[in-house]
Amino acid sequence: MLKCDITGRSTCVGEYNDFVHYFRDRYSKIREILSRRLNSRPIESLSKSTTGREVSLIGMVMDVRTTSKGNRVIELEDPTGMITAVIQKESEVYEQSIQILTDEVIGVTGTSDGNGRLFVKSLLWPDMPNQTAPLENGNGSALMLSDLHVGSRYFMADAWQRFLQWINGEADDASGLASQVRYIVIAGDLVDGVGIYPGQEKDLEIMDIYDQYKAAAQWLNGIRKDIQVIIAPGNHDIVRQAEPQPALPEEVQSYFRKDMLFVGNPAQVTLSGISVLIYHGRSIDDLVLRLPGISYAAPEKAMIEMLRRRHLAPIYGSRIAIAPEHEDHYVISRPPAILHCGHVHTVGIARYKGVAVINSGTWQSQTDFQKKMNIQPVPAVVPIVDLATMKIRKLIFA
Ligand SMILES: [Fe+2]
Repeated sequence: MLKCDITGRSTCVGEYNDFVHYFRDRYSKIREILSRRLNSRPIESLSKSTTGREVSLIGMVMDVRTTSKGNRVIELEDPTGMITAVIQKESEVYEQSIQILTDEVIGVTGTSDGNGRLFVKSLLWPDMPNQTAPLENGNGSALMLSDLHVGSRYFMADAWQRFLQWINGEADDASGLASQVRYIVIAGDLVDGVGIYPGQEKDLEIMDIYDQYKAAAQWLNGIRKDIQVIIAPGNHDIVRQAEPQPALPEEVQSYFRKDMLFVGNPAQVTLSGISVLIYHGRSIDDLVLRLPGISYAAPEKAMIEMLRRRHLAPIYGSRIAIAPEHEDHYVISRPPAILHCGHVHTVGIARYKGVAVINSGTWQSQTDFQKKMNIQPVPAVVPIVDLATMKIRKLIFA
């Protein structure tokens, strides 16, 4: 199986130069995608001679704000310079401009004033190619899981037991779906962890994180042996909090069956020819906060925003710490057939330009904290993808 992630390849120490490399890499990768649809010029080429002319640029959004007159002002930067792009209140693209996020790379077309300003007529996001189905064809099916939170008092052991019986052919499987399963992908938060939030102790059944992993291993080792299990970490796991995160440490891996595959976060794997991009999904927190119409109830919409921006975490340094690796591992250079996230504990399924978009919910029932915050998790629901037809169904074990 092919896999691609950060494990063993971290280069950053967090110095100034690392940030320069990181953002340059982000810019050049997304610029390449935008260049297929936009004939742009470098910012430094705008001068008095371009006054009044229509020009296109590709830039990283350093800042976006609304002025007292209600116009929107974007500071755009490319490796050659900076420019102020202005979107007037009455402009046709004003509504669209609400979607602009800091640190993302976009294309703009507008009229240059020859003096460091551009009056924007159109905006362009890199987006996915216009395809209706993935080019690949696999066989068998894959189950998408995340956020088991083993060790929490709220881990749904009974539901997991029912799931195990079903997958192992010990329960009714009239549809024959269980026997088709070849892969199980877990997008992070295998355990609840310790010290993740204040007062977590009272929510824990297992206090020691290694004991939590030992319990998780017992639950997972019971899965039918011919199924390939792939495990990525999340923010409750024992790896570094700064993303990208490496795979779980070897000591923890040793608790699990030898044939399980441990990958980082994010990671790209190929399941019988079908490419799956796995990302735990912390950036969904930022997208919910910043984009109108995006909520925890429909995480697939936030994930579509990642695909449109060709980036898993467009806003830098908000709620997630992103280590400035020399390479930006969050750019979606190659469109995957499946984008799989978790983290928000709600199930979301969509199809966007040929990509199956799946958020896989949780195995943790509503905690006291979630009750107080009026957060409704969707536990013990498993999205299943038929890798030959890419049809997705939901299996309910709650
Ligand atoms: Fe999480």
